Amino acid sequence: MSDPKKLFVKTYGCQMNVYDSERMVEALGTKGYVTTDVIEDADMVLLNTCHIREKASEKLYSDLGRLRKLKLARPDLKVGVAGCVAQAEGAEILRRAPVVDLVVGPQSYHRLPEMVEAKGRVIDTEFPAEDKFDHLPERRAMRGPTAFLTVQEGCDKFCAFCVVPYTRGAEVSRPADRLMVEARDLVARGVRDITLLGQNVNAYHGAGAGGDWTLARLIREMAEIEGLARIRYTTSHPNDMDDDLIAAHGDVPALMPYLHLPVQSGSDRILKAMNRKHTAAAYLRLIERIRTARPDILFSSDFIVGFPGETDGDFRATLDLIREVRFGAAYSFKYSARPGTPAAEKAPVETAVADARLQEVQALVTAQQRAAQDAMVGREVTVLYEKAGRLAGQMVGKSDHLHAVHVTDPTGRIGELVRVRVTSAVTNSLAAVPVGR
Ligand code: SAH
Ligand code: SF4
Ligand code: F3S
Repeated sequence: MSDPKKLFVKTYGCQMNVYDSERMVEALGTKGYVTTDVIEDADMVLLNTCHIREKASEKLYSDLGRLRKLKLARPDLKVGVAGCVAQAEGAEILRRAPVVDLVVGPQSYHRLPEMVEAKGRVIDTEFPAEDKFDHLPERRAMRGPTAFLTVQEGCDKFCAFCVVPYTRGAEVSRPADRLMVEARDLVARGVRDITLLGQNVNAYHGAGAGGDWTLARLIREMAEIEGLARIRYTTSHPNDMDDDLIAAHGDVPALMPYLHLPVQSGSDRILKAMNRKHTAAAYLRLIERIRTARPDILFSSDFIVGFPGETDGDFRATLDLIREVRFGAAYSFKYSARPGTPAAEKAPVETAVADARLQEVQALVTAQQRAAQDAMVGREVTVLYEKAGRLAGQMVGKSDHLHAVHVTDPTGRIGELVRVRVTSAVTNSLAAVPVGR
């Protein structure tokens, strides 16, 4: 048999892309590819791209510039571009970057195995009717204790700034019975913690036993799978948090007490201009309701500063909302005008003003993040060991509240759930020791 071909994959963007990259690696495995971390050794380089902000898409072109040099030395090297930039600018990529052999959009990954064997340059950015995941070949090897599982893709919300409805298409949910099979299969392969993924995951509704299942129903059924200890889901839209999903946070122990619930702004005027279809007060009420169901839950969120028309008063309203919620973590971004979105037509906020706002919002959320971590010191928490730490005798994993935890535990094993006591908080993680070991 000939040597396996080596595949180097670089993933940008959201967890959906991380999941897709894993599935593409499995699919290319059927064509004899094995992954490598050394780009110079690769027979094929696959860039799984993100289009969400200008900076994200620019990275593709700078990486392609470097690959051009690599390909001069290795003319057989195959270069593939996947993901959201492929979807948005596929034809332009082929025009601008002769180094690229293959362009594949997020809905066409099941065609990758045949595309890599095609002669000449190929592109597929269709939105086919079939479920790409049903047509992707799988490898059923044992794997690490955490996994993503895409349950829903696409978005019908059309926030005025966002490319996702264009790059990922309309909302589609995968059938619930199929997801139950996949979840059981993941657990059989060693997974104990599953994060259900979707661009609008809480809008999920898919065919399962007895009819249409909501996300809450799917979570309740998955929580019954023997050996599955933890369930999370991301990303949610505030308007799709239904009563049963809120209740599930109170009565499904496997559903972890951490929720990413992007709000984007605290100003009703800006929320309206963003087409978010909720007010700041409605968001705060929702937070309270979820906290009533699960008092110790930590929230995280996304914020955009410098959206067109954002005044100083609007920005202050965002800071007020952040102070009111007290987030466990948050991601803030400077508004980036994206071609084809309605907001891109409007006059931008001055760069220096947007930069200053970004710094201010980041300082506030960093302080809240620190406070949430510090509050854990002295407490007992449960950690799922994901890997060995850098220091000898150390294990690393996540707590229920998604804090990264370094545990001094020479006898610890990957995949173990261990009760630990938090001894200190450092910049981005907690230090802990096992309880009663
Ligand atoms: N589906 C998710 C995530 C979308 S993208 C949701 O609805 O929240 C992740 C985050 O990127 C968004 O929440 C938003 O804060 C940010 N984002 C999206 N488009 C952006 C743009 N044009 N400029 C700056 N940030 C943007
Ligand atoms: Fe983008 Fe809004 Fe859809 Fe989230 S809900 S993916 S921000 S359009
Ligand atoms: Fe980026 Fe596409 Fe995800 S634009 S954030 S990779 S859905």
